[in-house]
Amino acid sequence: MAKQAEEADPQTAAALAGLSIEALLHDYDGRDGRDIFAKVHAFTLAEQARAVHLYPFFQPLDRNDGPEAEIYGRRALMLGSNNYLGLTRHPRVIKAAQDAIAEHGTSLTGSRLLNGTTHLHENLEGRIAEFLGAEAALVFTTGYQTNLGVISSLVNRRSVAVVDKADHASIYDGCRLAEGEMLRFRHNDAQHLDTILRRIDKGKPCLVVIDGVFSMGGDIADLPGVVEVCRRHEARLLVDDAHAIGVIGKGGRGTASHFGMEGTVDLTVGTFSKSLASVGGFVAGQRAVLEWIKHFGRSMIFSASLPPASAAAALAALEVLIEEPERVAEVQRKGEMLRNGLRDMGFDTGDSQTPIIPVTIGDEVATVTFWRDLLECGVYTNPVMFPAAAMGKALLRTSCMATHTDEQIEFALEQFQSMGRKHGLLP
Ligand SMILES: Cc1ncc(COP(=O)(O)O)c(C=O)c1O
Repeated sequence: MAKQAEEADPQTAAALAGLSIEALLHDYDGRDGRDIFAKVHAFTLAEQARAVHLYPFFQPLDRNDGPEAEIYGRRALMLGSNNYLGLTRHPRVIKAAQDAIAEHGTSLTGSRLLNGTTHLHENLEGRIAEFLGAEAALVFTTGYQTNLGVISSLVNRRSVAVVDKADHASIYDGCRLAEGEMLRFRHNDAQHLDTILRRIDKGKPCLVVIDGVFSMGGDIADLPGVVEVCRRHEARLLVDDAHAIGVIGKGGRGTASHFGMEGTVDLTVGTFSKSLASVGGFVAGQRAVLEWIKHFGRSMIFSASLPPASAAAALAALEVLIEEPERVAEVQRKGEMLRNGLRDMGFDTGDSQTPIIPVTIGDEVATVTFWRDLLECGVYTNPVMFPAAAMGKALLRTSCMATHTDEQIEFALEQFQSMGRKHGLLP
């Protein structure tokens, strides 16, 4: 942080020097007395960051055109979205959403359980099940709620959820909502999973939960290893394929398909908010299991259903994916181009194998400063820091789309190189 302050102009330097990242770790509790709001006055980090134009969050996009966007009043190459197949502006997807509003209105204003189900939801479930070769699928209002509902309904007081340390927050939150115990195994380490499962009483039902493609690292789960261990311990396996659908596997069918291991995963969770250009989530698996989740998943029962426009958009995007599987190859190719380019320059891209490519910078303030300078050069990325990344391991998360042009990826690489040199990250 001191190095940052030295290199910045005097005014920014003074402000940067006062920007204390330790404030993130501050114990905001213990000062409340009777007033539950007391802690909020101690939280000044966001305001401090805004004052030195280093606050990267909640900034509205002026426009979002897919591979490019407008932010802070200027055009930028969009390397910070999950729109992997570039379908959010696809005419067929837009028309499907418009038609659904004309037919069903803007909202169903109720839970799936009661007045919130249409044939659109059921058609979408049928198509997802067919696409993944599953017996059935169940649609939720968000991917986040899917993990909450699925995990909490299955992992009751007698059961244990065993999760990869790098699993998405929604999996952790699903475990918190569940009455059963949660245990963690080392990231992508099937041997450690084995060790953990060995320690669990044989009479206790277990659900192992992994991301298929890890949302920050862009690495692919060791599915063969995990399936083998789960089988040996008779544990059920849930794979969250939020970042795998449309990105890996045959025609974008996700992690099991990537390994040629179709039929080996008990439950597949996915979201419409990434490749499928909408919002919403689903779980696919045995009909009887979904019947249980449908009646005991609190995030489904006690929340309004996916709006018709979102269901229709996801369904249309799925049809485009099925008809144009070349989009999957294209997003992989763009990812490879960006990843190889960044690695060859000397950036730390970790274990990424997909179009999600993290660039680890380390220090939190250095990361946001790098993010801001890149944006000024016309490249939008996502800064990720504590608690989404370990303290001192902050990174820029970049991700490609099938609709990025080669020239756009080359432009991004040029900007990374020149900023990398300016910031002393590259020779
Ligand atoms: C692995 C994973 N699961 C679930 C979710 C939640 O999905 P949604 O944004 O659709 O609620 C995300 C979101 O980023 C994710 O990365």
